[in-house]
Amino acid sequence: MEGSRGCGPIYSRRSIRKFEKADIAKEDIIEIIRAGSAAPSAKNRQPWKCIVLGNESKEAFLGFMEKGIEREENISAMLPKSGSGLPDAKNTLRIMREAPVLVAVVNTNGGSPFSALDADERFMEICDSLSIGAFVENMLLQAEKMGIGTLWIANTCFAYQELVSYLHVQGQLIGAVALGYAAEHPDKRPRKAPEEIVEFRL
Ligand SMILES: Cc1cc2nc3c(=O)[nH]c(=O)nc-3n(C[C@H](O)[C@H](O)[C@H](O)COP(=O)(O)O)c2cc1C
Repeated sequence: MEGSRGCGPIYSRRSIRKFEKADIAKEDIIEIIRAGSAAPSAKNRQPWKCIVLGNESKEAFLGFMEKGIEREENISAMLPKSGSGLPDAKNTLRIMREAPVLVAVVNTNGGSPFSALDADERFMEICDSLSIGAFVENMLLQAEKMGIGTLWIANTCFAYQELVSYLHVQGQLIGAVALGYAAEHPDKRPRKAPEEIVEFRL
């Protein structure tokens, strides 16, 4: 029964990195985004916006992501301490090319991550980022219920400037979600046990 221990979409969801070619119906994408927007958000600010990319717009987006990764690697790194993550970013790019649909997720209240924040602004940004995390997780769980595979992607960070210019959107690009029918069925990835992460002070 859904909701009982260890069952339901919370537990059956996996990050999917191989997708079938089949498209996702627009109504299904809307249903997934509707579930996202049912998430709680700090002060009910709902700081989220989605840009759904497929076909040419997806290829253009990924072209800019590739350019950003190449720039980071060979020209000028905006994230110099994260260079060891570039091979993984290239792998993510390959996976994104296979997915029929990408949903770019923007924090509409956010600014450039390359600008400094004072403490007030940082707390505000933390709250909006948490709200967007809840939004994305709801989307993943709804997709799982509908038999649609997902991958939550933050490797867009390596091409932050390129992608924001391409999308031409106000706010902070948080990442993307790849959607598609799964062409793999991975086993459960390891998790810390509750005993490892909780300290009861009852
Ligand atoms: C904020 C966030 C960013 C992520 N970014 C990427 C990514 O860019 N590329 C990727 O392949 N997986 C990415 N993942 C997926 C994680 O690697 C995955 O959730 C984790 O390994 C656990 O696997 P599971 O989702 O199948 O349980 C991301 C997950 C989260 C929550």
